[in-house]
Amino acid sequence: LAQGRPARIGLILPMTGPFASTGRQVEAAVRLYLRQRGESFGGRRLEILLRDDTGTAPEVTRRLAQELVVRDKVQALAGFGLTPLAFAAAPVATEAKLPMVVMAAATSAIVQRSPFILRTSFTLPQVTAPIAEWALRERVQTAATLVADYAPGLDAERVFKARFTGGGGRVPLELRTPLRNPDYAPFLQRVRDAKPEALFIFVPSGEGAAVMKQFAERGLAEAGVRLIGTGDVVDDDLLNDMGRPALGAVTSHHYSAAHDSPENKAYVQGFIAANPGMRPNFMSVGGWDGMQLIAEALQATGGGEGEALLAAMKGRSWTSPRGPITIDAETRDIVQDVYIRRVEERDGQLWNIEFDRLPAMRDPGT
Ligand code: DHB
Repeated sequence: LAQGRPARIGLILPMTGPFASTGRQVEAAVRLYLRQRGESFGGRRLEILLRDDTGTAPEVTRRLAQELVVRDKVQALAGFGLTPLAFAAAPVATEAKLPMVVMAAATSAIVQRSPFILRTSFTLPQVTAPIAEWALRERVQTAATLVADYAPGLDAERVFKARFTGGGGRVPLELRTPLRNPDYAPFLQRVRDAKPEALFIFVPSGEGAAVMKQFAERGLAEAGVRLIGTGDVVDDDLLNDMGRPALGAVTSHHYSAAHDSPENKAYVQGFIAANPGMRPNFMSVGGWDGMQLIAEALQATGGGEGEALLAAMKGRSWTSPRGPITIDAETRDIVQDVYIRRVEERDGQLWNIEFDRLPAMRDPGT
């Protein structure tokens, strides 16, 4: 019966407001996927219903999710640029018994908010633990932390501190910056005064350039402070514009546009050709793989819906532009390789060059 009818996907993203870069990246990848892989799966044409939640108001995200379910009769919800917005939509997915594919938000606890949530992005604990271990191997003894003051930042702060101090390091200063309209100058001045050997940073996608500017202006590199963090701060979309201050920053993350694989070369080439002036970042691969998850499940079920579609999404594995990934059947969370990378210049552009890999990392949990 469902066969032949379009499968509608309600894609909720911040297309305007302070986190619009996340929406732009995810949308570009979703459209690229359909252009390259075709629009029909399991006998059903995929129809994308894009809604802008502006990135700042959970009640707006929740209302949009409800409208997509009730009025537009979507088969799945997808997108979700920030954690509070994913939290807000979770009860809607549970009530409607529809798969909810989190393509961007990255707080560990999100998948526990509904048995219908699956994640194709990453988790902050998953990408934070490896950089703490790397700093210890580098014999860094003191590291300050600077995180955005909301759920993913608190995940990052907690996991960095536990791993780093657990291995004998010291965290002399812990700073939390506001999510809205942050001014990084006074925070980085405090880091300069404390002079730790390293500064661990997590800020959401889109904020990296402003942080990097203050890191340079406050003279932190000159004071001997090494910049480390999760890859969010050296977002591939913005990295080229950050210029020299970003050189040498070491971060851990699940995706670099410089990832050396045939799948990624094709992805980056296709993305740049379709979106002149943009470079795909980690948000984009969350969107790409979210589409792959939906497309494969539709194919496997011959156009199935609801709990059948959800069941077909669980346990899937494929090779993403980022490397091999699995959507764990039990946790519905993503299992993926995490890489340690350093910002380097190649052919006049800045890239996150991967030099170490931790295979098949799970979310280490809360
Ligand atoms: C979240 C948002 C981001 O832009 C990011 O880089 C990581 C996490 C979030 O709100 O979950």
